[in-house]
Amino acid sequence: MTRNNKIYVTSPLLPGIDDFNTIIKDIWESKWLTNMGKYHNLLENKLKSTLKVRNLSLFNNGTIALLIALKVLDLPEGSEVITTPFTFAATPHCISWNKLKPVFCDIEPDTMTIDTNKIESLITPNTSAILGVHVYGFPCDVKRIAEIAQKYNLKVIYDAAHAFSTEIDGKGIGTFGDITMFSFHATKLFNTIEGGCLTYNDDNLIRKIYNLRNFGIQNEELVEEVGINGKMNELQAAIGILNLNLFKDEQRKRAEIKSIYDKAITAMGGGIRLPKMPLNASNSFQYYPIIIEDNYPISRDEIYEKFKSLNIYTRKYFYPACSDYECYKNDLAVKLGDLKTVNNIKNKVLCLPFYGDLDKKIVEFICNNLVTVFGSYI
Ligand SMILES: Cc1ncc(COP(=O)(O)O)c(C=O)c1O
Repeated sequence: MTRNNKIYVTSPLLPGIDDFNTIIKDIWESKWLTNMGKYHNLLENKLKSTLKVRNLSLFNNGTIALLIALKVLDLPEGSEVITTPFTFAATPHCISWNKLKPVFCDIEPDTMTIDTNKIESLITPNTSAILGVHVYGFPCDVKRIAEIAQKYNLKVIYDAAHAFSTEIDGKGIGTFGDITMFSFHATKLFNTIEGGCLTYNDDNLIRKIYNLRNFGIQNEELVEEVGINGKMNELQAAIGILNLNLFKDEQRKRAEIKSIYDKAITAMGGGIRLPKMPLNASNSFQYYPIIIEDNYPISRDEIYEKFKSLNIYTRKYFYPACSDYECYKNDLAVKLGDLKTVNNIKNKVLCLPFYGDLDKKIVEFICNNLVTVFGSYI
């Protein structure tokens, strides 16, 4: 699928317009548009079983959800949260908006998630939490992170924006740590246009999260918290309910595209490296990242430009790293670990176009260009 003949890195999963219209008609007739309506509550329940989690609260976007995840855990103001800079801006921004200090830890090369061997050296008496990112859907080493958190009495939050439906040893990825955030932004495998959710095991958080996403209001006369507006509306929920019927088929189609890419890149026998999904985890099929090694004849940036000239828009996720942002690199409160792997991979990673309706001929064309280093096309 192309927009103006351009191939983008993703294309949103959309339900049939007639199916959407049927729900919209019902919403119109009910005149209940937001504030925990029928479709909101239905989607909350359906997602609980899809994601295999105990508790789930919907939000209007993933960023507000993550803001509230950090807020509800009552981390001491000014305390340090260890995370990685190899993520989207929202991850460290949510730490900072909570008046907490991001501490940037390195990533490990195979999954590009937080390097658990480097976390302990960053822990100080002021550390309150670890915020792991399941980047591109590759799961963090949740077992090791739980051990470290227990040893130092830290909270654990996960950013699972890219890991919808991923499982570790058959358990929903949203069951690990204290709270997990999922994003349902239009670019995500499962989307509600804008949207997100928090998942958590502790029933004591249900009421507080409910309040925080609704201005702190528990009922007409009781305002318990300094809350915010994080509510998902009925139109978003309607898209979610319909997309829940479609995401597995989308994953199946993406799995086919992945195998074409995998086959071509593996056959090259070097030059381009593929990250490794741990054997005990299932793939969400959110992104298809590749790492351009030093022995590939041209650089990542040259590949990016060459594809762009062919109307194929790959993405340099995550370049720049968050530790390079103006707002963090000049902030003395922000602590940097040894970021050797981040600083290496940020210049080598490239996400290739990856969505179910992507024409297989285009996938082959991309593979041919990578294999022949654009030789036959320039
Ligand atoms: C890793 C990561 N965290 C957080 C977010 C923020 O989610 P949202 O766009 O739903 O606010 C995104 C992306 O959108 C993301 O990619």
